[in-house]
Amino acid sequence: MRIPLVAGNWKMFNTVSEARNFVAILAPAIRDIKGVEKVLCPPFVDLLAVKALLEGTDIQLGGQNLHWEQSGAYTGEISGPMLAELCSHVIIGHSERRAYFGETNETVNRKVNAALANGLIPIVCVGETLEENEAGKTAQVVSQQIQAGLGGINLSDTARLVIAYEPVWAIGTGKAATAEGANAVIAEVIRPALAAEFGQMASQEIRVLYGGSVKAKNAGEFFSQPDIDGGLVGGACLIVDEFTQIIQAAA
Ligand code: 13P
Repeated sequence: MRIPLVAGNWKMFNTVSEARNFVAILAPAIRDIKGVEKVLCPPFVDLLAVKALLEGTDIQLGGQNLHWEQSGAYTGEISGPMLAELCSHVIIGHSERRAYFGETNETVNRKVNAALANGLIPIVCVGETLEENEAGKTAQVVSQQIQAGLGGINLSDTARLVIAYEPVWAIGTGKAATAEGANAVIAEVIRPALAAEFGQMASQEIRVLYGGSVKAKNAGEFFSQPDIDGGLVGGACLIVDEFTQIIQAAA
């Protein structure tokens, strides 16, 4: 019922020429894998070049952030209308943005609304830090991120929402959560929090991805969990063979 989705978050990797070389190899490797939605999220400056290379494939494109205003005097920012001409998806509230760029549940909320208003599919990141995890605060932190980050969204827009559960301690550390542990947070915290906001039916329709040290060798374990609907992949999405195998595991 929920179609699996795998998104590659390139983070701050690949210049335009590197992106062209990489996608020229990646796109033919993954284009014919069916039964999974595939999204590449390169840096903004690479979007146009990557878009050209993805023409005629079902591989979709996403940004890694956006500003909540439609336009204005916001030096260095990128707006929803700008992204909407180039992509279908946008990552919002990644833990690196929360940690290094002052993003809060409130700014996440404004950005999610801006994405939806511009027809983009927001991939909203939630997840607890190591300190919060060890203090037993995972449920409290993650449900607050859902409640405050997604409050005020029209019920009719919820089908387009994608959530990514990315425990901060598992990102880029090689220490993935256990598949059962990640599934439990999604089933027992995230879906109930979504149900409280949008009702039981919507909470079962919204796709929830896992992110944090997803690799070819552990992807199958995560994607076979009943409440994990795919992955948001960092490091491994920059390696053609790894990312291809991860997408195959989700399909
Ligand atoms: P890694 O896969 O490198 O741990 O990164 C996960 C992530 O942050 C994806 O958004």
